[in-house]
Amino acid sequence: MSLLAPIISDNGTGFSKIGFAGNSDPSFVFPTAIATRGGPSTASSRAGPPIPSKPGSLASKRGVEDLDFFIGDEAIANQKTPGYGVHYPIRHGMIDNWDHMERYWEQTIFKYLRAEPEDHYFLLTEPPLNPPENREQTAEIFFESFNIKGLYIAVQAVLALAASWSSNKVTDRSLTGTVVDSGDGVTHVIPCAEGYVIGSAIKHIPIAGRDISQFVLNLMRERGEMAVVPPEDHLKVASKVKENYSYVCQDIVKEFRKYDADPYNMFQRYTGEHTVTGRTYEVDVGYERFLAPEIFFNPEIYSSDFLTPLPEIVDGVIQQSPIDVRRGLYKNIVLSGGSTMFTHFGQRLKRDLKQIVDRRIEASEMSSGSHMRSTGVEVDVISHKRQRYAVWFGGSLLASLPEFYSYCHTKAQYEEVGPSICRRYQIFGSVN
Ligand SMILES: Nc1ncnc2c1ncn2[C@@H]1O[C@H](COP(=O)(O)OP(=O)(O)OP(=O)(O)O)[C@@H](O)[C@H]1O
Ligand SMILES: [Mg+2]
Repeated sequence: MSLLAPIISDNGTGFSKIGFAGNSDPSFVFPTAIATRGGPSTASSRAGPPIPSKPGSLASKRGVEDLDFFIGDEAIANQKTPGYGVHYPIRHGMIDNWDHMERYWEQTIFKYLRAEPEDHYFLLTEPPLNPPENREQTAEIFFESFNIKGLYIAVQAVLALAASWSSNKVTDRSLTGTVVDSGDGVTHVIPCAEGYVIGSAIKHIPIAGRDISQFVLNLMRERGEMAVVPPEDHLKVASKVKENYSYVCQDIVKEFRKYDADPYNMFQRYTGEHTVTGRTYEVDVGYERFLAPEIFFNPEIYSSDFLTPLPEIVDGVIQQSPIDVRRGLYKNIVLSGGSTMFTHFGQRLKRDLKQIVDRRIEASEMSSGSHMRSTGVEVDVISHKRQRYAVWFGGSLLASLPEFYSYCHTKAQYEEVGPSICRRYQIFGSVN
């Protein structure tokens, strides 16, 4: 029996990454948005428009024609279509509206991947500390509505660790490390030991891509740059500026001086095109280039509610983890997600964290009256080529191993045990 490649679906707050195991990039990356008939709703129940969910009914009988809703970029494009409302079924990394999510997956499979779900195993991803009820609900949809062959739900952080094996700096394929995953809606710092998440030490930071775009927009508005940009394009321009012109600096005071001394080189011009009229406009991009990611290192420049810099959070997470894994956690800090893509992000995190660690060692040496000398703690932050879609890529790697199938729950097992089967799952060992 030859098997078709497993399908990997990593659905994030902002974007879904979808494709086939064994590939190095997802085949589709589009917003986790759905436009349905009827106004925008905030309901998060399974009630709502009826969806046939008898086993086997959907996959074979349902054509694409009767899908009177749009997902991804098409959903955003239909935002203004009378009678349609746009919904974002995932909030802060967790599924919030199951009806919308089911329909979103349905179009992903049939219309985008053009796959028959009965022919495939699926690897889905979940955020850390996802309640087991959510896994069950997901299994119910995939086995009962889509009638898939088998399912594995993996923790995003563990996949991000596996993705870092593609870095040539990584020599042992370990699933011990600290994952800094920063996407659109949330930033998590997650310690993992041998593939297990140390749940009690995880921390979330309420700053991610969306906030950074908003911050860039505020800065550009303050300088009067946005006056030439149509309001509906404001956030789009801010996101583009953030993604294409920003970088992490060493020292903000020095960086401001550089701009003042050499504005011609430091300021850049961004040319945009109005989405509807096609008219072009130009804006100057200045200090926001380095201030945008500085939010992570000096959060007080953006928010008065959340003030702890990311390197301190990472240090705190590791200090709260069991003592015997701390060295492993400091020396394998792995980046994942779109908002870790700023140039020099990893270097700055490493420098600031190393300072915190060295200071602590110095203080403890002093307090021992210099009787004890520490051998030091190795701090390393891993940046790599697949970091942008690290979670997806880690899934693609694991699901292309022959043993992947033995980790999955099959349709037959699901039918025997029911959705609760998904409460149990096996962690991938360190595979060579
Ligand atoms: N080169 C870049 N530099 C900075 N930010 C970027 C870059 N590329 C993408 N981003 C930002 O990354 C975010 C999307 O990241 P990602 O796809 O990892 O998030 P997500 O998985 O949808 O969300 P979450 O993980 O929070 O649920 C967006 O805010 C986007 O603007
Ligand atoms: Mg994500």
